[in-house]
Amino acid sequence: MNTPADDFLSAIDAIPAERLPALLRAMPKAELHIHIEGSLEPELIFALAARNGVALPYAGVDDLRRAYAFTDLQSFLDIYYAGASVLLHAQDFHDMAMAYFARAAADEVVRAELFFDPQTHTARGVPMRAVVEGLEGACREAKARHGIDAVLILCFLRHLSEEDAFATLEQAMPFLDRIVGVGLDSSELGHPPEKFARVFARCRELGLRLVAHAGEEGPPAYVRSALDVLRVERIDHGVQSVHDPELMERLARERIPLTVCPLSNQKLRVFPDLADHNLGRLLDAGIVATVNSDDPAYFGGYMNDNFLQVFAATGLTARHAYRLGRNAFEGSFADDAAKAAYLARLDAVFRSFA
Ligand code: ADE
Ligand code: ZN
Repeated sequence: MNTPADDFLSAIDAIPAERLPALLRAMPKAELHIHIEGSLEPELIFALAARNGVALPYAGVDDLRRAYAFTDLQSFLDIYYAGASVLLHAQDFHDMAMAYFARAAADEVVRAELFFDPQTHTARGVPMRAVVEGLEGACREAKARHGIDAVLILCFLRHLSEEDAFATLEQAMPFLDRIVGVGLDSSELGHPPEKFARVFARCRELGLRLVAHAGEEGPPAYVRSALDVLRVERIDHGVQSVHDPELMERLARERIPLTVCPLSNQKLRVFPDLADHNLGRLLDAGIVATVNSDDPAYFGGYMNDNFLQVFAATGLTARHAYRLGRNAFEGSFADDAAKAAYLARLDAVFRSFA
């Protein structure tokens, strides 16, 4: 990837601070960490519940929203899985994803790599085909309607067994050409990456790209084992890496992208005060950090909200914004030609502000 010229970077440094919010809104973005089930807004949850005859343990939209007072990851996941229970048919998955793509397009997202959690659906009797075909159709429509390049990443739920993950991979075999890679999510503490060593090795043999959540609530050791045992290419979250200086150096040296989610970290009390978020520290250490929304319907914001709020709270600069923009495209699973085209679009927007 070409490196930006010094005079271009100096021009970015000269962008006045009051122009930063407009720049953050306008810059083209890649979102690399979005659980599509986490984009289900309460209104859509209730609309799908009515359409599918699913009973919910909440009186209505306001009652559900009131339950979004999370104390940690698990307290969120319990509600997130309850919300996903309204998804039954391919059309539901399609409608959910299209609602996300409309929001993403408004935030200048031009590439989206969507996580989905098939086990939370197949366990309720929803066929893998309905999940994948609904989401894949939406990805195609996202390109036609919004110009967004979207791909799918199947996540294994780490609170379940590796045997269950293998069974899920087996169910996904007919659809592997529609999936770019696999990830690992759900309850982190007590479920280290090495629990999934064999299934990730198998996915690697199958030519799938590999990512994993690590170092969200869990220790730096989980980030290390995601890299060394699972051999992932990106770490989702990874913010706990700051407690391990050697790991920090390694992440920078090996250019391992971290898909950081500021509002998620705030709402799940990883950094209860956004002003304490370590995104700037990661960037200044030379780490390929990116900004993402994680579960935007639950955490109070999509991509632009994440950018605007973490910049305002921590005093990041236009130079950081440029770095974040580049990191996301470079860390994406797009091919080199597509990456070069995204970076050219990013540079054009920054040039127009400089
Ligand atoms: N599933 C959805 N959001 C998640 C998160 N932030 N961490 C782990 N698993 C998740
Ligand atoms: Zn996540």
